[in-house]
Amino acid sequence: MDNQNLKGQSAIVTGADSGIGKGVALALAQAGAKLLVNYFHNLQAANEVVSQIIDEGGEAIAYQADVSKEHDVQRMFAHHLDVFGSMDILVNNAGLQKDAKFVDMSLDDWNTVIGTNLTGQFLCSREAAKIFIQQGIRKGISKAAGKIICMSSVHEVIPWAGHVNYAASKGGISLFMKSIAQELAPQKIRVVGIGPGAIQTPINRDAWESPEALTKLLTLIPYNRIGQPEDIGKLAAWLASDEADYITGTTIFADGGMTLYPGFADNG
Ligand code: BGC
Repeated sequence: MDNQNLKGQSAIVTGADSGIGKGVALALAQAGAKLLVNYFHNLQAANEVVSQIIDEGGEAIAYQADVSKEHDVQRMFAHHLDVFGSMDILVNNAGLQKDAKFVDMSLDDWNTVIGTNLTGQFLCSREAAKIFIQQGIRKGISKAAGKIICMSSVHEVIPWAGHVNYAASKGGISLFMKSIAQELAPQKIRVVGIGPGAIQTPINRDAWESPEALTKLLTLIPYNRIGQPEDIGKLAAWLASDEADYITGTTIFADGGMTLYPGFADNG
């Protein structure tokens, strides 16, 4: 985005040290927002994102927190307010996969994925909503009192064998996002989901690293290319801006057509 339509705003992006989160943090900063770049364990990667933002003329800090831990989340939001004085945008991005056949899936792998992907979105959104309600609309900054973007996946609608913890977390995000959107709309808080398809990041390296894997993956993508973090970053920056002021309670899929059931193109 070339325009600065997030100027004067500040954002927390969780899991912003790599992959889609990094793409989103960079895009929000390019649109003028000040960033808290949250990371779980890779300080060096988070610092590189911060340096890139600062080099491009933006403002950013790195901050460690495990989004599945209530205390960590509360201390992260308090720190954001200490540093930036207000808050306008939350991007619930932190997420992970711990794949296993259903009958072999351990309770630990189930709980870890639900804890980060779903409970993490609950904990962060609750803190953000409290701030947005207390703050109200900041005139001249944004038409909304706050914006919450929930990173989901095509797997909020596409079942995924061998990944049931992940698919359950994303299906959960869909109704979590819609329910809080319904509850918070009267307070002028917008809540939207983004459903990425296959984006070229570390989480799905196995699916694109070899030419054979990539060819197989592309049979699921009618638009015939793997997505890039910027595809999602630009969408997030637009959804957070006033240009999307009438959008709340829905997931926008950015997936090159993966949700179009390409297997039916010449079948059924
Ligand atoms: C997953 C990726 C996968 C993509 C499409 C994403 O939500 O994290 O591993 O490639 O969905 O299936």
